[in-house]
Amino acid sequence: DRQKHIRNFSIVAHIDHGKSTLADRILELTHTVAERKMKAQILDDMPLERERGITIKMNSVEVHYDGKDGQHYIFHLIDTPGHVDFSYEVSRALAAADGALLVVDASQGVQAQTLANVYLALDNNLEILPVINKVDLPSADPAGTKAEIEDDIGIDTSDAAEVSAKTGLGVADLLEKIVRVIPAPTGDLTAPLQALIFDSKYDPYRGVVLSIRLKEGQVHLGDRIRLMNSNMDYEVTELGVFSPDARPFDELIAGDVGYLTASIKDIHSARSGDTVTSAEHPAEKPLRGYRPMTPMVYAGIYPTDNAKYNDLKDALDKLSLNDASLAYEPETSTALGFGFRVGFLGLLHMDVVQERLEREFDLEIVITAPTVTYHVVKTDGSQESIANPSEIPDASSIKEIQEPFVDATIMVPEEYVGAVMELSQAKRGIFQTMDYLDKSRVNVKYKMPLSEIIFDFFDKLKSSTKGYASLDYTVAGYVASELKKIDILLNGDKVDALSFISHKDFAENRARVVTGKLKEVIPRQNFEIPIQAAIGSKIIARTNIKAYRKDVTAKIHTGDPDRRAKLLDKQRAGKARMKSVGRVEIPQEAFMAILKNG
Ligand code: GTP
Repeated sequence: DRQKHIRNFSIVAHIDHGKSTLADRILELTHTVAERKMKAQILDDMPLERERGITIKMNSVEVHYDGKDGQHYIFHLIDTPGHVDFSYEVSRALAAADGALLVVDASQGVQAQTLANVYLALDNNLEILPVINKVDLPSADPAGTKAEIEDDIGIDTSDAAEVSAKTGLGVADLLEKIVRVIPAPTGDLTAPLQALIFDSKYDPYRGVVLSIRLKEGQVHLGDRIRLMNSNMDYEVTELGVFSPDARPFDELIAGDVGYLTASIKDIHSARSGDTVTSAEHPAEKPLRGYRPMTPMVYAGIYPTDNAKYNDLKDALDKLSLNDASLAYEPETSTALGFGFRVGFLGLLHMDVVQERLEREFDLEIVITAPTVTYHVVKTDGSQESIANPSEIPDASSIKEIQEPFVDATIMVPEEYVGAVMELSQAKRGIFQTMDYLDKSRVNVKYKMPLSEIIFDFFDKLKSSTKGYASLDYTVAGYVASELKKIDILLNGDKVDALSFISHKDFAENRARVVTGKLKEVIPRQNFEIPIQAAIGSKIIARTNIKAYRKDVTAKIHTGDPDRRAKLLDKQRAGKARMKSVGRVEIPQEAFMAILKNG
């Protein structure tokens, strides 16, 4: 009977369309959080999420709702991130739900990620309930937005809710619609336990905390459970739901979304996508797990202090539990020592991983410039996949270098089509098609090198279309390109971690920009440092950093001890993310200089 009163749904949307704000209103209306504890975007509890105003992690929460029919309902709501770099979170969240609220900003209409999220929801056979948000805005066009949802996506909007997540208007009606439209979970309570792990995190006291969706059977405190893929048995020490704080229960049944702990200390045995079953009466087969993610970009991560290598390894292991899209393996660099080559879904993801390693694990790291994976076909016919530019072999042994291309879809109002095309051509894009979605909106498709899309395409696209364009892309395959490896020499020594790949037409220009940027960011030392860029043995750009006395306080004659102390502090803090390479100290920004396109 309890099962009939459960509704499991995820909230999905294009970035900034208001998912987290809607979740706030639902939590408030259902009195899930005491009024004095309520704050905006309450489910975004990671400090990084609050500072940046974006959702990075999914969050599941149980809320209780008294329906107009006099029945008591239990909602499991899963808020998800909107940015493409975190789409793996969305796909895992959807596998735990039976329905999805598709939030669409009524002043913006359907955007590229609205569509991408709908496809993910349909892949998971979810019932989709459209929610037209921000109807309080003067520029809101709810009727037009509904028409777009019907025409562009093909979803019936007769049940659609019109709300303002900001003012709360329409949210009470939405709760009733959730009861009516989102199906109750099914699942046999007497069948052997099958629960999907859709997320996890490491807790130093309780071990791994698993987020689970029970598909079949039940689980009780003290039960012997088995993780089917890793084939490990444990005893359940805690069960419960997040509401939004952990609330322990004695049992969970098919249809529930909750958490489970079992003193699991072995991080590698408790991965998202695995199935929890009973050790005594195991299910025959595990549930369908998740397709592992293929990283889009790779970068090297090194501890600034070489002695911290093992701490970094431990941190990556723990972080990867909570960030299932993180991939890493050890690598060594002549310049930087022992570290890891880490795969990311995009630059925002890379940024977040760097910050989380530094904040949650108290590490000081340097991260090298991100790169895509290249396929190198050698003259002897062999082929290698390389995610580190310094590993590209000598040009004489290379037949061709292939780079990943994507199919990019850009949705844009008609007046900006010219700007989009100009930018796409400049980024080596190959025009495919252009379709009118309606009178004024156009869908433009290009084949484009992934490396160009990832680095600054999106920012340039936004600025050249006043923020009106939205972008989505999928990897299409590898294509041979005229690519060159450019090495950087500091003080005559090649610094492997600064090597990069460029299209031959842009090589000299980029070499000049990069050496210029390095000159700006590498602090002067008490000897002159030549900076050179080379293709093979041919130098294509050069500059010098002049010698300089390094003590910044030497120049200060005020004798103000406070000021002097502050400057020394600043100098020390600036050093934190420096890495000594030979006699030269290289700051973190130097590695990112390579991203500068001029
Ligand atoms: P991500 O999780 O980062 O993808 O964003 P989100 O979809 O969760 O959006 P969020 O809830 O953070 O809202 C984005 C912005 O829109 C915030 O500045 C909100 O205050 C604003 N916003 C959300 N709902 C409404 C609404 O109904 N009306 C108005 N006027 N603003 C809204």
